[in-house]
Amino acid sequence: MFVSDCLSVNENGHLTISGCDTVDLAQQYGTALYVMSEDKIRDTCRRYKSSFDQHYAGNGAPIYASKAFSCKEICRIVTSEGLELEVVSGGELYTALAAGVDPKIIHFQGNNKSLEEIAYAIDSGVGDIVVDNFSELRRIEALSAQKGVTTKISMRIKPGIDAHTHQFIRTGQIDSKFGFALETGEAFEAVKEAVAAEHVELTGLHCHIGSQIFDISPFVLAAEVMLGFYNKIYVELGKKLTHLNLGGGFGIKYKNADASVPYENYMSRVSGAVHAACEKYGLQIPKIYIEPGRSIVGEAGITLYTVGDIKEIPSVRNYVAVDGGMYENPRYALYQSDYTCLVANRAAEPRKYRATIAGKCCESGDLIQEGVKIQKPEIGDILAVLSTGAYNYSMASNYNRNPRPACVMVSGGTSRVIIKGETYADLIRNDL
Ligand code: LLP
Repeated sequence: MFVSDCLSVNENGHLTISGCDTVDLAQQYGTALYVMSEDKIRDTCRRYKSSFDQHYAGNGAPIYASKAFSCKEICRIVTSEGLELEVVSGGELYTALAAGVDPKIIHFQGNNKSLEEIAYAIDSGVGDIVVDNFSELRRIEALSAQKGVTTKISMRIKPGIDAHTHQFIRTGQIDSKFGFALETGEAFEAVKEAVAAEHVELTGLHCHIGSQIFDISPFVLAAEVMLGFYNKIYVELGKKLTHLNLGGGFGIKYKNADASVPYENYMSRVSGAVHAACEKYGLQIPKIYIEPGRSIVGEAGITLYTVGDIKEIPSVRNYVAVDGGMYENPRYALYQSDYTCLVANRAAEPRKYRATIAGKCCESGDLIQEGVKIQKPEIGDILAVLSTGAYNYSMASNYNRNPRPACVMVSGGTSRVIIKGETYADLIRNDL
């Protein structure tokens, strides 16, 4: 019935998440409120992990892309399940370290890392800096020389696969701000420079072909292309790398109509391609990483709101206004993203009322969803938006000086705050 198996309806007709009544959660913690299911997150982590055991005999690991949702508790949860961690900024690195994550399992990404961020990563003993471009490579080399250390790096490669439209096409030259292009020879030049450099140690390759992808074929193709390059480095430069990171991007369910691919299918098809390519080239299978963000936390999260106003404009539309908006979920305003919405305290009733869910920000585009069918709401009802666990809190802002909502983690019928809601005082903390 629902997009996620952590959701259900109880005897009161209320939406539940991991055994917690969402109406009670709204009452206890207030709205707007992010709610995340720890059970669902851990279950997903375990599915990924056991696929690695099955397909790569444990020689590899999922890396959680923390940009999807970064806070100390999520870092603790995913790493306790054996995942490694990807960060893309000094802030995400700081969060991970503050959570007690072992720096050796941190992979530092980003297309324009500042000198300060690079120094911070080196000083913290981060296990892998994923280099994006030549200037960065030279900055890391110079800084490492200055500090008298050897820094482990890998390289972000554009494999020439465009998967953004659910179809893949090979492109002569990819128009992307990320990484080194394979087709132009740029990637090979970068590898040569890295291999020759004295203070960096090139250990692996990385690619990421896009996000919210349902088709497995582009991932298979990416694995084949990347292993071809991995082999070329060995054959032509005699350099044996140790790992290959095939990125994230696995699609999740926002609507029931989304046909999400089970990770197990992805893992078995891609590992088939990895094994076949290694056999073809006579290569020892490298340590394989994948880097999912959305699929670890997306379906585990919901957002709860209180309906503050209902504006029915005859022959036009019905606006249902909630106490949140684009400041805490900018994804509809940015990407016209789909979401499933429902009235949490009437979850057992049929969804027959067509509504546009509006936020409280001062602009017309501040909508959470347009023209969705929900239960007929009344002012004071609790509205739930599903699959908000990824790229909602992490993309939130203080637009209109709205404080960011709290985030509550639920598990087996219990709940706890993992991120406090901001206060008005927080909003002026840095004002002078
Ligand atoms: N690795 C790299 C290098 C990435 O750039 C990304 C996502 C991931 C891993 C994780 O991808 P995932 O498994 O979450 O799809 N704000 C957008 C999504 C941007 C994704 C950026 N990179 C949204 O709200 O849909």
